[in-house]
Amino acid sequence: MGVPVPDSVDYILLDEPTIQNRVQEMADQISADYHGIRNEDFLLVGVLKGSFIYLADLARRLTVPHRVDFIALSSYADKAEATGAVRLIMDTRADVAGKHVLIVEDILDTGYTLRYLYRLFEAREPASLRTAALLSKPDRHKVEVPLHYLGFSIPDVWVVGYGLDYADRFRTLPYIAALKPRVYQK
Ligand code: XMP
Ligand code: MG
Repeated sequence: MGVPVPDSVDYILLDEPTIQNRVQEMADQISADYHGIRNEDFLLVGVLKGSFIYLADLARRLTVPHRVDFIALSSYADKAEATGAVRLIMDTRADVAGKHVLIVEDILDTGYTLRYLYRLFEAREPASLRTAALLSKPDRHKVEVPLHYLGFSIPDVWVVGYGLDYADRFRTLPYIAALKPRVYQK
């Protein structure tokens, strides 16, 4: 049944029901926290590409009205880990001033990306600003960043599936899996 597990996968870290249960819990929490909000005031901003499946599942489980928008970033391949250099490659369509903004990220690693986004949106004077991440690797954090909703803390391994990729592969696996280290350690 289902898609065969790719040979590059070492082990499945979070299976489909585990992810779906947690996403439901996060949606319930967010729906409670934003109770009574108007559609035009609540903006979910997904960070492409990694968050697209998480955002789709989370958004469909919210019981409060909301809008969906996207932003795309690119980290400078070599320098990023040392310097946190991030480049904006696609901005949101919506004007976020005066809106309640929830940034939806796939994974918090060093924290540089979310910190960059937090500062970017903060400067645009939203009515409120919060962040959600499905995953976090606490052993890798280098900078502090406000994180209001977190799905799972995971160990320092490269994970793929449920939107996450390695070299743009494995994004549509229904589970989150650790890759074999030989695949990403060159
Ligand atoms: P920072 O270090 O800025 O990085 O917090 C966040 C971004 O790094 C990517 N990332 C991963 N992507 N599997 C992935 O597919 C991983 O294990 C992983 N760790 C970090 C991701 O793009 C995230 O937005
Ligand atoms: Mg990403």
